[in-house]
Amino acid sequence: VVHAKEDCSSSDIACNDPGTIGLRRETFPEGFVFGTATSAYQVEGMASKDGRGPSIWDAYVKVPGIFFFFLFVSNSQMCFCWIYVYCCIFCIGNIAGNATGEVTVDQYHHYKDDIDLMVNLNFDAYRFSISWSRIFPNGSGNVNWLGVAYYNRLIDYMLEKGITPYANLYHYDMPLALQEKYGGLLSCQVVKDFADYADFCFKTFGDRVKNWFTFNEPRVIAALGFDNGINPPSRCSKAFGNCTDGDSSTEPYIAAHNMLLSHASAVQRYREKYQEKQNGKIGILLDFVWYEPLTRSKADNCAAQRARDFHLGWFLQPITYGEYPRTMQEIVGNRLPKFTDEEVLLVKGSTDYIGINQYTSYYMFEPTWPKSSDLGYQADWNCGFAFEKNKVPIGPRANSGWLYIVPWGMYNALTYVKERYGNPTMFLSENGMDDPGNLTLPQALHDTTRINYYKDYITQMKKAIDDGANVKGYFAWSLLDNFEWLSGYTARFGITFVDFNTLQRHPKMSAYWLQKVLKRGGD
Ligand code: NOJ
Repeated sequence: VVHAKEDCSSSDIACNDPGTIGLRRETFPEGFVFGTATSAYQVEGMASKDGRGPSIWDAYVKVPGIFFFFLFVSNSQMCFCWIYVYCCIFCIGNIAGNATGEVTVDQYHHYKDDIDLMVNLNFDAYRFSISWSRIFPNGSGNVNWLGVAYYNRLIDYMLEKGITPYANLYHYDMPLALQEKYGGLLSCQVVKDFADYADFCFKTFGDRVKNWFTFNEPRVIAALGFDNGINPPSRCSKAFGNCTDGDSSTEPYIAAHNMLLSHASAVQRYREKYQEKQNGKIGILLDFVWYEPLTRSKADNCAAQRARDFHLGWFLQPITYGEYPRTMQEIVGNRLPKFTDEEVLLVKGSTDYIGINQYTSYYMFEPTWPKSSDLGYQADWNCGFAFEKNKVPIGPRANSGWLYIVPWGMYNALTYVKERYGNPTMFLSENGMDDPGNLTLPQALHDTTRINYYKDYITQMKKAIDDGANVKGYFAWSLLDNFEWLSGYTARFGITFVDFNTLQRHPKMSAYWLQKVLKRGGD
């Protein structure tokens, strides 16, 4: 058996005392929070047990054996969608290996071990998500008290052990009942149902949970669920193979609009009924790829800005300034829903902080080829993506096709949010990299690339903070290897290796490296 800890105290270069590279808890601002993040469907297990209702992911993972084809252009400059790179690793079934989240790492039963592990690794906080359909199996109506009891146990044990809970209400997992009832995010009915669910969570857990998020990565939800349809509810207007129905030219925008309104309505409930009494805060989690212009030309700069607007600005612009980015308004025209005056007031200012999930960066260029006549979210960007410049790759690739390791992109992303959006209070709410699923245990534990990833990205985050970015905390994705959506168990993002047969947890060297960085009290 290999013990990563022993490995890490050896002379291995990547294991050098983090102090020697200037990364220590003490060098961060007072009260800076370090945690890890997971989400319900990816770690809980017990997906059809103890009264939980299915979500759209439970239905989606059960669809085996559909073939879908797509073109993967492997040279450096490819237009349209880096997201499609996701698909290249599997040609059969929705999920690699036909995996499901039925058991995954069974945090439902192992939560004490996992929280003890966080304590042992010197983390302060845990970002987890609540499964809507575990609380309301039908999305609304009857409460599943066994589900409530589970989250009470989880939260209580965190508090007992000094780990601060950061609870997220929606991590890709629309209750299937609401999808079937009115089309989930495509209907404005979701706004009230989501606000009611959120209200219930504030009322039930808010005496102990003081940090809330409404949605995780609404852009991913809208784009992958409604533009290219590779995620559930797999709607799109083009033949990507796994779409049943849909209209990519309008539905991503409608889904996003309804998420913004659902988010803002939940925040309104929190502020009106609970915030003062419970003394907590609430925000949203946004993914942000840094888009660097390929050249210094004006055209490439505009393309990169367009990409940032369509990606981050889609959500952060309405939240900060009460309207969609001008670029989007011009390009999408009347396919882009409009906020009423009342909705502008609701959405604008609807966060106490924002979470930024930051993993990677790409070059952007203005394409010279004719604009596609397709109307759809990604087609509307009309941007060229490049992964190298003058034959130099933007960074090494992790296991996932979309994940290039580009630490400087972290600095640029945070500085951009600071400058363009009035330096809101931010959390770096996800950051990490994956290894292939089939590594042996000794290989997986010796994760020096991940140590360097964390070292370099955290260093860049620190630099952005030193230059004024208002970042209050950092969450590594992820505490554990887990169910990585379409990749199933073929992508291991954890700082802890999980044997998916025995469910045994084995912290990797990166976990012990972080433990050293986060050690309290100097020495
Ligand atoms: C984004 C998502 O929030 C999370 O669910 C996913 O596992 C990681 N990034 C890695 O892809």
